[in-house]
Amino acid sequence: MLSKKMSAALNKHMNTELYSAYLYLNMSASAASTGFKGASNWFMVQYQEEMIHFMKFYTYLNSQGEQAIVGQMAAPPSKYGSLLQMMEDTLNHEQFITKCINELTDLAVKEKDHASQIFLQWFVTEQVEEEENDRELIGKLKLVGDNGYGLLMLDNELGTRVFTPPPTTAA
Ligand code: FEO
Repeated sequence: MLSKKMSAALNKHMNTELYSAYLYLNMSASAASTGFKGASNWFMVQYQEEMIHFMKFYTYLNSQGEQAIVGQMAAPPSKYGSLLQMMEDTLNHEQFITKCINELTDLAVKEKDHASQIFLQWFVTEQVEEEENDRELIGKLKLVGDNGYGLLMLDNELGTRVFTPPPTTAA
């Protein structure tokens, strides 16, 4: 059983994960439109991961007897800058998500909600990985700069990313 406050906070964050999915879907289209097919694939995988995150919250709320409610949200931007700028935007967004997850965990601890604490642990770990990946790519993009050959090689690398669903959501 969840408190009203915990349930509302989890539901709100569920919608933030959905926003994240749409944000990366727009970034995927933007990268494709500028010829970066590999980066487009990378952001598409990112979108798929965010949909898993969204569904984790949706399923958890329902399993606790709460009604998950998908609400209105702001539309993500449709115009983006360079690949480096997009990756920096991605890191900024993930740092915001990390802050949200930490606040949710703080609330679960305050409310002595052990089930929610355990549920949120997966996201605490996931955010470390997300930020690490983004920082690594930002480093590579800065190294490459405006070098066309370097950007092409990096785009090829981004094109190899494959979506792997977490074990609990695999069919
Ligand atoms: Fe669902 Fe990228 O955090």
